[in-house]
Amino acid sequence: MNKPSSTYRSDPTDRSDRSDEKNRLLGSPLPARGEGSAELDESHWLLPVYSPHTPVEPVRGEGAIVYTRDGRALIDFYGGHAVALLGYGHPRLVAALANQAKELFFQSNSVALSLRARAAERLVRFGPEGLTRAFLVNSGAEANENALRLAFRHTKRTRIVALEGAFHGRTAAAAAITWKSERWYGFPRPPFDVTFVPRGDLGALEAALGADVAALILEPVQGQAGAVALGAPYIAAARELTEASGALLIFDEVQCGMGRTGHPFAAQAYGVTPDLLTTAKGLAGGFPAGAVLVSDAVAAGLKYGDLGSTFGGGPMACALIETVIETIESEGLMERVRALSASIRETCQVGPVRSIQGDGFLLGLRTSRPAKEIVKELLEKGILSGTSGDPDVVRLLPPLILEESHVETLAKALAEIRP
Ligand SMILES: Cc1ncc(COP(=O)(O)O)c(C=O)c1O
Repeated sequence: MNKPSSTYRSDPTDRSDRSDEKNRLLGSPLPARGEGSAELDESHWLLPVYSPHTPVEPVRGEGAIVYTRDGRALIDFYGGHAVALLGYGHPRLVAALANQAKELFFQSNSVALSLRARAAERLVRFGPEGLTRAFLVNSGAEANENALRLAFRHTKRTRIVALEGAFHGRTAAAAAITWKSERWYGFPRPPFDVTFVPRGDLGALEAALGADVAALILEPVQGQAGAVALGAPYIAAARELTEASGALLIFDEVQCGMGRTGHPFAAQAYGVTPDLLTTAKGLAGGFPAGAVLVSDAVAAGLKYGDLGSTFGGGPMACALIETVIETIESEGLMERVRALSASIRETCQVGPVRSIQGDGFLLGLRTSRPAKEIVKELLEKGILSGTSGDPDVVRLLPPLILEESHVETLAKALAEIRP
């Protein structure tokens, strides 16, 4: 069948007709269009908020390897900011996605779905004992936003305590509890009172937990700060202090959860159950999904209309949440994380790496030179890694399906890099 020439393009990257059309409609010329470069094309159409880009364009992935447009194969030790939990093209995930897309792509929360009930049950059972209900959303910030809302509602208090170095997201409430987001990501002021305390300082925490504090929120392993594990003793003490002050304890496990510590959540790794736990990123292996896990006490009294989300808990996300958890458990991926994390610690303190921090597959390599230089040099050697808020920490967030041979390649590459 002949397609009208105005809409048919044999090369999907050729946007000349669209930019010409837009130029005409806008009446003023747009900046020059990129010539086959994703970087230039993105800067032509998107807000320039994510640069500088990693200078490669992945076009395909298999396992922990991504293949770039210019024909390189890279071991992905960054996992798209911890999202590609099962790597790329995992057969179970691909099958679940395709089957669910054929069966039922979307239905809202105004109808009950057994698939949604199954995904929630699986997630609750995967989570720490004592958190008995799930609320399904689309992202980490949305999960944190709802966790805070539940804490305010439950305690009828008005202040949140958060930790220095914390990253909790970019919406108004999540940005308010994010360390050093002075500009509130464009909002003129925080929507509620927040006190930040230095991490590890229990005296400061105790002093901050006044009678107006609804919740303490913390990442058991801080991600953006550079993979900083708060440690079991601090977390256990935080549990005791919040209980004593009547504040709730929220774990933000958006980055460190879903098997990444070698346990379902850091809550289980450290043996501490919070009142609320948020998860997202790898929850559905790359499909947008987030969740809040909630204790019975916090869930009590919630009624129709108290919370809501259009896309949260949609069939695609639910099918993938179910499959991700099933895969982590049936393929022994948490055991793999524990073993390979130990092997990274044993073999990768070489070249520019002074020490290794973090937990499981959320690791920070503290380097003798700026992390961004090491990330660049690793990329030249075929390894994708990432930076963090700490300029001297290279962050590793590999998929849980990583293999021993990938760790060997990383260790060899680091050993070859100038200290
Ligand atoms: C610990 C933590 N919480 C929350 C978020 C925000 O998640 P999202 O970008 O999905 O809103 C992030 C994202 O990096 C994160 O690392």
